[in-house]
Amino acid sequence: MQKFLSKSYIETENIASKLAQTLKGTEIIAMFGGLGAGKTAFTRGLARGLGIDDGVSSPTFALVHEYDGKYPVYHFDMYRINSFDDLYTTGFFFFFYNGIMVIEWSENIENALPDDCIKIYIKHISENEREIIIEGADTI
Ligand SMILES: Nc1ncnc2c1ncn2[C@@H]1O[C@H](COP(=O)(O)OP(=O)(O)OP(=O)(O)O)[C@@H](O)[C@H]1O
Ligand SMILES: [Mg+2]
Repeated sequence: MQKFLSKSYIETENIASKLAQTLKGTEIIAMFGGLGAGKTAFTRGLARGLGIDDGVSSPTFALVHEYDGKYPVYHFDMYRINSFDDLYTTGFFFFFYNGIMVIEWSENIENALPDDCIKIYIKHISENEREIIIEGADTI
């Protein structure tokens, strides 16, 4: 377990960008943390670390956005998913190990996550501070 205190949006991006340097290309990264915690910020940094410089936004309506960098990145938002059937019909499982999956609102699909996934917990501390816990990843 690795723990950080981020004091700004850019610091959150930078932590994620460092994590990106440790990835091999098939990781499943599950993010937890409520509304406005910084999950999209973290995804932006991760994408930047893989050479993807823009176009990252919450895929709330599209469910998944695909980006192409050093590895393919599949950015999911599970905010509206609340059953296994919903998840299954999105084709979620076909993405497994075909690229890096980054998943916002993993709370909603926790039972469908593989044991070897990387978990990111983002906790709101104050207006500009977030505690970020990374589990299951190499040291960044
Ligand atoms: N240390 C910080 N790290 C990340 N974001 C921060 C930080 N401090 C303040 N913020 C603010 O918190 C918000 C985070 O927004 P972001 O879209 O990344 O959250 P989210 O978890 O994806 O939200 P949602 O649940 O709506 O998808 C932004 O408005 C950002 O400016
Ligand atoms: Mg978001």
